[in-house]
Amino acid sequence: MTRPLQNRRILLVIGGGIAAYKALDLIRRLRERGAQVRPLLTKGAQEFVTPLAAAALAGERAHTDLFDRAEEADIGHIKLARDADAIVVAPATASLMARMATGDSSDLAATVLLATTLPILIAPAMNVRMWQHPATQRNLATLRGDGVRVVGPNEGAMAEAEFGPGRLAEPAEIADAVETMLAEARPASGFGFLAGRGATAEAASGPLAGRRVLVTSGPTHEPIDPVRYLANRSSGRQGHAIAAAAAAAGATVILVSGPVAIPHPPGVQVVPVETARAMLAAVEAALPADLAIFAAAVGDWRPAETRASKIKKDGSAPAPLALVENPDILATIAGRSAGRPRLVVGFAAETDRVLENARAKIARKGCDLIVANDVSPAGGVMGGTANTVHLVGRDGTVETWPTLDKDEVGRRLIQRFARLLDP
Ligand code: C5P
Repeated sequence: MTRPLQNRRILLVIGGGIAAYKALDLIRRLRERGAQVRPLLTKGAQEFVTPLAAAALAGERAHTDLFDRAEEADIGHIKLARDADAIVVAPATASLMARMATGDSSDLAATVLLATTLPILIAPAMNVRMWQHPATQRNLATLRGDGVRVVGPNEGAMAEAEFGPGRLAEPAEIADAVETMLAEARPASGFGFLAGRGATAEAASGPLAGRRVLVTSGPTHEPIDPVRYLANRSSGRQGHAIAAAAAAAGATVILVSGPVAIPHPPGVQVVPVETARAMLAAVEAALPADLAIFAAAVGDWRPAETRASKIKKDGSAPAPLALVENPDILATIAGRSAGRPRLVVGFAAETDRVLENARAKIARKGCDLIVANDVSPAGGVMGGTANTVHLVGRDGTVETWPTLDKDEVGRRLIQRFARLLDP
């Protein structure tokens, strides 16, 4: 059986951070899938893992320093920058991202990243506040604009007892993203690799070839304390089916998903998030897009305060749970004056007066189309596999579809959106 990354050559740049130890596991995962991995450790990385450990796991020499004479004679930095099918940076620290975004070449890792035209995937990992800082977000936008792929960071407990986005994506997720990137990139031959960065149009065919599609899916979890959260019953099935259909139609798809128990759709880059605020940040980081479909069941409210330790039952009456409103992701993106996706689609999960509410919602949210469905418990839509949808246009027109499997709804919606983008 051929493995998904059989004979693919990955240069793995390991940045300096507590998450560097996970890069060792990533080497294992990539090799399990058939890849050849050549590690390159920054100076910072060597504070956390040794070149020897990386080399032992990779079965290849680990590279470390720009001015290592033996290295330059043996395999120079330009050769390192070319002699692979893709470069993966994990963990990508704030500093490495900044160096990449500004074209700095002050060490071997940065030099290789500047000298390369190979497809690049970064897996950022850093403190929450460093991740959320406008400087990092600016660098991220620059890197995306340069065609760099991004996986993670995930949300969760961090080394400094903080909570939020900043954790390195899991090694299996990074390996999945490598597979997706290589599947979309043109086979590496000579200098053909620029195509691997952004031009997926050649590799893909279908009504959305060359288009970038953003989908949100699943519920959000809004933490009350480290063990409790507010959530809803969304399974993510409809959003995931739409993302899968968009990828099958040739699009580059970024799926920003709340916590779900279903598998990642094939050929899709998944950004896992937990909270509405993290979902908004991930959506903004994923733009630009030609088409954005907001199928997530975003929690309208979150606890006003997230306690750092578990709230104890102390015999007295429970403390009331104060809530504050979450940002409206759909309305925020649909209302953008610059960088608004050409087609913005919202969902309306209603239990009463479905069409009336959908018509009001389209105006309130500023989107182009609403996919409305009845989620009354009797219909079994929430969490179920079938769906009955109504397409509501800005002018109030309604098209009601028969009850269909969610996968089929996804395919038909994508066909419709492709026609709207390309009449
Ligand atoms: O306001 P309501 O939840 O009914 O609107 C549903 C639509 O708005 C869906 O497309 C959903 O993904 C989106 N939404 C959002 N952010 C929120 C609430 C809803 O993007 N905070």
